[in-house]
Amino acid sequence: MVDQPLFSSKQVVCRFLVTAGPTVEAIDPVRFISNRSTGKMGYAIAAEFAARGADVVLVSGPTCLDAPEGVRCVDVVSAEDMYRECVALWPEMDGAVMCAAVADYTPAKVSDAKIKKTESSRFSIDLVPTKDIAAELGRTKRAGQLLVGFALETDNEEANALGKLERKNLDMIVLNSLRDEGAGFGGDTNRITIYSGGRNGGKTVFPLESKTAAAAHIVDFIESLP
Ligand code: CTP
Repeated sequence: MVDQPLFSSKQVVCRFLVTAGPTVEAIDPVRFISNRSTGKMGYAIAAEFAARGADVVLVSGPTCLDAPEGVRCVDVVSAEDMYRECVALWPEMDGAVMCAAVADYTPAKVSDAKIKKTESSRFSIDLVPTKDIAAELGRTKRAGQLLVGFALETDNEEANALGKLERKNLDMIVLNSLRDEGAGFGGDTNRITIYSGGRNGGKTVFPLESKTAAAAHIVDFIESLP
């Protein structure tokens, strides 16, 4: 946290969209597909922006976390809900930080009734791809808007992160590797690497630190971008 609220010191209050948490894709009224995201990193970033005087909207999948002080929260469940809210908010925003672990696939059909066991031992679900929210914001980004993504990887970390930076038209990507102890889902710490400015741009590696400290570094970095 910095001494001076930097965003409010600018002439106009900056408006930032932050996505956080997992999305939950229903299979039937009882079951769903989701992931291990707890939302901690995204909530810490939203809190950091708000503490610096930015106007923040947090679009969050289901988590156990309380809304950070001074942040407008929009609760969503599925990837489709998150897509709809983010696309509607994006034109009013100065930037977005896409921290949510959005499900890549969703069941093609949601059963109205609980699916019962059958005699056959196998059961399969037809999954269809979800819409890529970050890529859509990247596609519709206008001059002056800043788009930040995250990449959580287990291998080929740098190549995968740089691929996402390009493919989704991001200005900056925050990489965390599940191979690093203390990084990733659930815990209170993270070890991040920030890439900005495309394939030949800069790379900044941060030490293992609390998610709150990592959030402050990410927001510092955003503020330092031209
Ligand atoms: N993202 C998104 N919408 C999706 C999928 C991802 O907005 N449907 C965003 C995430 O919030 C993150 C970035 O895109 O900022 C990268 O997400 P990630 O899950 O690492 O990448 P994918 O593109 O889904 O690729 P893969 O799962 O194959 O690594």
